[in-house]
Amino acid sequence: MTIFARVAGTGSSLPDRILTNQELESMVDTSDEWIQSRTGISERRIAAEGETTCDLAEKASLDALDAAGVDPQDIDLVVLATTTPDQVFPSTACLLQERLKISNNSPAFDVQAVCSGFIYALDLANKFITGGNVKCALVVGAETFSRIIDWTDRNTCVLFGDGAGAVVLKADQESGITSSILHANGAYNRLLHVPHGVSKGFDRVQAGGAFTQMQGSEVFKFAVRALGDIVDEVLEKEGLSKNDIDWLVPHQANIRIISASAKRLGISLDKVIVTIERHGNTSAASVPLAFDEAVREGKIKRGQRVIMEALGGGFTWGAVLMVY
Ligand code: ACO
Repeated sequence: MTIFARVAGTGSSLPDRILTNQELESMVDTSDEWIQSRTGISERRIAAEGETTCDLAEKASLDALDAAGVDPQDIDLVVLATTTPDQVFPSTACLLQERLKISNNSPAFDVQAVCSGFIYALDLANKFITGGNVKCALVVGAETFSRIIDWTDRNTCVLFGDGAGAVVLKADQESGITSSILHANGAYNRLLHVPHGVSKGFDRVQAGGAFTQMQGSEVFKFAVRALGDIVDEVLEKEGLSKNDIDWLVPHQANIRIISASAKRLGISLDKVIVTIERHGNTSAASVPLAFDEAVREGKIKRGQRVIMEALGGGFTWGAVLMVY
């Protein structure tokens, strides 16, 4: 008997504070016109002082549990993808487990693959479920990326935002995730990174100077190629054609990268879930945030075939194909 990991419920959460392109015009040398035409972003959400990744993850998780009709005690795995954990340790997944009052000693851990983190987390949870060890997993992508942004650097500060998305995955005999592919190539680590951390450059962290640095056009070129290739790879693995796909849920990094992916798939943009205009790039949260919005708006329906894809620092990249 084949067991699938099926999405039973979705949830998401955004901070209240909206930061518009117009406000950014007064912070750095940029313009609403430049940001919109180069990225597709018009506003993003920014966490309030003291509001943490775990706070956003908790709200998104409660939404997802509610939508799935699942009691937190029935969650036997928590996987949380983040680049911006609340603390060095314990993992934000363990902090979330406590918040949700999950007291069944089931495993909980964080995944760090930057913007691909949620795809990595889904892949792992899928393997736990199809391996027969887990019946019900909570998979979260949550970020307070604004904390690792230099708000005087126009190359990066216009791009990112904060948020969280979550799914409850249940073991199911009918259908669910049918394929997932992960890739990484560490040779590209310097193109998109925070070059300081705990065991290297900790003085910069303490001085409040550890921020995201990106060679945008190099990342852009790689992303267009890698995301196009991985969609072909996942379709080939499943023996499917482009016509079999109902929805593409891409990482929300740049509308031009999203459009290129859609073109490569041969689908029109109205079959692509796009939230970048209002969310910006929320890193590991971007795919589950977009997915939850599309499910709640009634766009993505039960039985439809969905591809999720993302690329992030590392480089890491991946794709998941599922029947929702
Ligand atoms: N406002 C105005 N001008 C700007 C801004 C800004 N905010 N930012 C850069 N510019 C300028 C540059 O300085 C440059 O000026 P110059 O020609 O005088 O030197 C000019 O605009 C063009 O810069 P480019 O970098 O060539 O612009 P590009 O068209 O590549 O767009 C962007 C930049 C939006 C960053 C794009 O490269 C991109 O989206 N890259 C990919 C990002 C991505 O996919 N990230 C995914 C993963 S994120 C993660 O893992 C954390």
